Amino acid sequence: MFDNGYGYFSKDYREYIIKTPKTPRPWINVISNGDYGVVVSNTGSGYSWRTHASLNRITRWNQDIIRDNWGKYIYIRDALSGKFWSPSWKPVCLTPQQFELSHGLGYSEFRTRYFDIFSKLRIFVARKDPVEIWTLTLKNDSKSERRLSLFTYLEWNLGAAPDWHREFHRSFIETKYDEEMNCIIARKRLWELVNKKGQHWNRDWEYTAFFASNLAPHSADGSKENFIGRYGELKRPEAVVLDKLHKTFGSWEDPIASLKHEIILKPGEEKTIIYLLGAINQNESLSEILVKFSSEESVNRELESVKSFWTELLGTFTVETPDRAFDIMNNVWLKYQAISGRLWGRTAYYQTGGAYGFRDQLQDSQIFLYLNPDFTREQIKLHARHQFSSGIVYHWWHPISEEGNISGYSDDLLWLPFITARYLKETGNFELLMERVPYCDMGEGTIYEHCTKAIDNMLMRFGSHDLPLIGDGDWNDGMNAVGTEGKGESIWVGHFLYGVLKDFEVVADVMKDFERKSNYFTRAEGLKRALNEHGWDGKWYLRAYKDSGEPIGSSKNLEGKIFLNAQTWAILNDTAPDDRKRIAYASAKEILFREYGPILFYPAYTVPDPEIGYLTRYAPGTRENGGLYTHAGTWAVLAAAKMGDPDTFNIYRSFMPVYRGMEPDKYMVEPYVTPGNVDGPDSPYFGRGGWSWYTGSAAWYFIAGIEGVLGIIPTWEGLKINPMVPKEWDQVLVKRRFRGTEYNIAIKRTPTEKREIIVCGEKIDGNTIIHDSDKKIVDVEVHI
Ligand code: GLC
Repeated sequence: MFDNGYGYFSKDYREYIIKTPKTPRPWINVISNGDYGVVVSNTGSGYSWRTHASLNRITRWNQDIIRDNWGKYIYIRDALSGKFWSPSWKPVCLTPQQFELSHGLGYSEFRTRYFDIFSKLRIFVARKDPVEIWTLTLKNDSKSERRLSLFTYLEWNLGAAPDWHREFHRSFIETKYDEEMNCIIARKRLWELVNKKGQHWNRDWEYTAFFASNLAPHSADGSKENFIGRYGELKRPEAVVLDKLHKTFGSWEDPIASLKHEIILKPGEEKTIIYLLGAINQNESLSEILVKFSSEESVNRELESVKSFWTELLGTFTVETPDRAFDIMNNVWLKYQAISGRLWGRTAYYQTGGAYGFRDQLQDSQIFLYLNPDFTREQIKLHARHQFSSGIVYHWWHPISEEGNISGYSDDLLWLPFITARYLKETGNFELLMERVPYCDMGEGTIYEHCTKAIDNMLMRFGSHDLPLIGDGDWNDGMNAVGTEGKGESIWVGHFLYGVLKDFEVVADVMKDFERKSNYFTRAEGLKRALNEHGWDGKWYLRAYKDSGEPIGSSKNLEGKIFLNAQTWAILNDTAPDDRKRIAYASAKEILFREYGPILFYPAYTVPDPEIGYLTRYAPGTRENGGLYTHAGTWAVLAAAKMGDPDTFNIYRSFMPVYRGMEPDKYMVEPYVTPGNVDGPDSPYFGRGGWSWYTGSAAWYFIAGIEGVLGIIPTWEGLKINPMVPKEWDQVLVKRRFRGTEYNIAIKRTPTEKREIIVCGEKIDGNTIIHDSDKKIVDVEVHI
């Protein structure tokens, strides 16, 4: 399905199958079990980590999107001819007789053939253990017996990445070979993190890394110099050319892990070898892990459990539409990307993170509202623990070290009440508000208190136009110089805050906190007034005021005249009166909604503006400088739906990865996940995707599809149904759990095109299905 010359989706669209190692950009998989993780690309390159992809990187990798030449590799050498190749492709890069790579949910599998040896290399991460499992199956498809040597190769990183002072770092790593366990072991006596006494450079790396095989190897090596050879290269390593490893381990090498096996394959014969790579902490047992995954049977069983985990989790919400691409994205890949890539891995190729972004992972956790809201609840509590008792929060923080960057970004803290309100609308479970969670500096409070502290803190920071101060920036990280002097204001934060206030009027009412409720009402009204008095430019809303008082996003500006978020959120949160909604939407549609999606603003900045920030320093048309920022693009779809625009689906479709992926040489990035950004019209590469996988757009694009296009929206009362599906669609089926009840929703086009909603056989008034918790199953027919 959707074959673009480089790859296609499998029939059940749970795999993306790549047909050539030379995709226009690395097309990767981010595989994680929530703790241990692996990134693997189409060339076989990538890296591994535990808990934190930057502070606790197991294998070394350097960011080089063009060469993609860092990874954990295998070499296969034919004894008779001396020829060798890599089953994945890199680093030897011979032309394969056959090449196929499946990126699946929780695994990737290369199926390649070189010199009539077929190989199947399957890589996955155990469901719960901190180990990645590679199984390499080789089959002799030739007519003669083949003697093969197999070599593996990886460089240890063991700690913070990149370890840019390599000569310093390597001298703390010690490796050894354990004969009994057939296992290379690596430790490091230094970790960059502060120790308990607050000292730097005085802490062990608290893990043991291992690389093992289920078959006794013929030899092993821990020295890069031995393996590659002096001034050698990975494409043609001396050890493989000479068919020899040296068993050199210790503390004095440039440390790597290589195992050598020799196998003989008769014509038609097939053999499988298992490799295990991982890192255990002091409470875990290496021998247990090695024994657990020592047989093909146990390893296959483990993969099955990984697959069924994903099937079950993703299967709680399903949709069937006439558009296969819509189904592919919404049934499988957006959910997988949000969970495996954003919430668990928190890393990919373009941004190798590992930290939690306060606003980022909260937004991502919305995906769980549709699958298992308990996970969203845990995420809310985790972020609440990273809030200070004053209400402010970390902009991001590192798990493991618990260090962070205290946020000066005005919006960060507001995402806590925002996501909490979404959780409450979805689950109706107000008990969350009473759960007590500590602040990160002192004391503790209920989630309700955490949320109201965030809001109240924001309410204290208003500027001369009665609008929220932007501080060091807002959702747009690149507007980081607008309010440094404490005067610049954000119109977008105004729209955003207004919605949070309206939601928390409801919440405060439930909590019987009437004084706060009335305060929020008054402040919301004042804010709306100020937004319309000082935030309106004539045909659209301004984006911000600089410290100097100069507006950003005004028709009077030479560049950055109109910004998307300031229009979309005015519509989404009803800060705009109806006529202005229409005008602002029409302006955005005309100027910003382009061929490849709604761009963030227009025109792009060609001259850096030090009073705005680094977004103006990007090449024009890229990323936040006037490109499609997919995350923000999704809000444009929601705004289009709210405006009742019949083009809603076309807008959604204009940046849909599956369709964009049909022009792979223009779009370049993966067709199965959302990219962070796509170049805008001011770039010579208009339409080129970038920064794939690790973007806040995965969960939001899902929401844009389900709540925007299909129009199934959780509200305080129940599910509101307002489909914006395209004219050609005659039927959509949705299976959705809501507050413990199964909703089977069928949207059907009828000849009269009269909109009506029939719930369990009865027509309802209006378009909201008031939730009845006594019903376990609710069948809904929506006539359109
Ligand atoms: C990145 C950041 C996110 C921010 C966005 C826009 O995706 O992770 O927090 O909102 O850029 O600048």
